[in-house]
Amino acid sequence: MRSYKNIMVESLTNSKKYIFSSPFIIYTMELHEPYYEKHILVCVIDKSATGKNSCGPKDAEEIWKKLKSYVKENNLKAKIRVSKTYCLDLCSHGPIVTIYPENTVYKQVKLSDVEEIIKKHLIN
Ligand code: FES
Repeated sequence: MRSYKNIMVESLTNSKKYIFSSPFIIYTMELHEPYYEKHILVCVIDKSATGKNSCGPKDAEEIWKKLKSYVKENNLKAKIRVSKTYCLDLCSHGPIVTIYPENTVYKQVKLSDVEEIIKKHLIN
């Protein structure tokens, strides 16, 4: 199938192969199997210059560092990814920590809450 204006999805359920067409380039990409058992996203955005609430000014970077350090120190880097992320659109409730595949979202996380997150999600 080809289209020069619309993005098409071909064989969504079977081949996991997507083909996007444009007048100039045809892009092909394939879904990749998840290669981490867990992915933790920590919003670290600082919007204080705009006067808006955000995660960054509330220790978000330290929360990310503490989670990242735990993963590194316990040799979990092959299983667990801890990523800084951009705004998750819950700014006034931040810092926001999201954990997959549990699909768990923690709001108003404090540095002192990190131990509990580790116990609940990273220690089997
Ligand atoms: S700044 Fe963190 S959710 Fe928006």
